[in-house]
Amino acid sequence: MANKNKKNGNFVDISDLTNHIRRTTNYYIMTLKEIIYKNRSYRRFYEEVDIRKEQLSNLVDLARMSPSPKNLQALKFKICNDRKLNNKIFPALAWGGYLKNWQGPEKGERPAAYIFILADKKISSDIAKDYLYTASGYVAQSMLLGAVEMGFGGCTIAAFRRNELNKAINLPEHLEIMMVLALGKPKENIIITEVENQDIKYYRDENGNHYVPKRSLNDLIV
Ligand SMILES: Cc1cc2nc3c(=O)[nH]c(=O)nc-3n(C[C@H](O)[C@H](O)[C@H](O)COP(=O)(O)O)c2cc1C
Repeated sequence: MANKNKKNGNFVDISDLTNHIRRTTNYYIMTLKEIIYKNRSYRRFYEEVDIRKEQLSNLVDLARMSPSPKNLQALKFKICNDRKLNNKIFPALAWGGYLKNWQGPEKGERPAAYIFILADKKISSDIAKDYLYTASGYVAQSMLLGAVEMGFGGCTIAAFRRNELNKAINLPEHLEIMMVLALGKPKENIIITEVENQDIKYYRDENGNHYVPKRSLNDLIV
């Protein structure tokens, strides 16, 4: 372990600490790297597994603590784990654009909950100038990582039918949907592969395994 002595400061290497805990107990604590690797875009879920309202508000608390342009905190959140409302939300969302023969998760594999990331136009009069699209990305990632830590997973949905969705959730005029997080207990095997011939499209095999090509570190660091 990097630093066994708490009195000497609190810079413990988290990988060392988690390895130590794994070796000496039955607990498995994920490092941030493991959480980020596990945080894939899950589009199929065990729909019967509930996410409680309290868990959803705990995720919003992670959004609350995320960076905010000009510290406006102009993003608001709507949470939903109500099955009836979920059924109204689902048809307005677009799933997995590259999967041409797949219209989204079947009944029984749909999200158990949603978090709507909303721009409050009473606080911001210019969504673009106030960087609210960027801010939405920050809060989305915070909440998705939190969901993974809780044993759930999700998918960011930016492709949706706005009018239909506004109506479904009865959204007041001053709130604008930036993106939607679909959440649940993942029922999906996702495999990261290398990008070949510049093809970045994700795909599935005949067993339903989902493959996501990622560019190599060498390609990313310019
Ligand atoms: C801003 C943003 C919007 C996205 N919108 C959608 C969407 O509307 N529908 C969908 O199925 N996936 C959507 N995704 C998920 C991406 O397709 C996914 O991140 C990508 O395929 C890489 O997979 P990974 O998240 O597992 O790494 C979105 C992701 C981001 C970051």
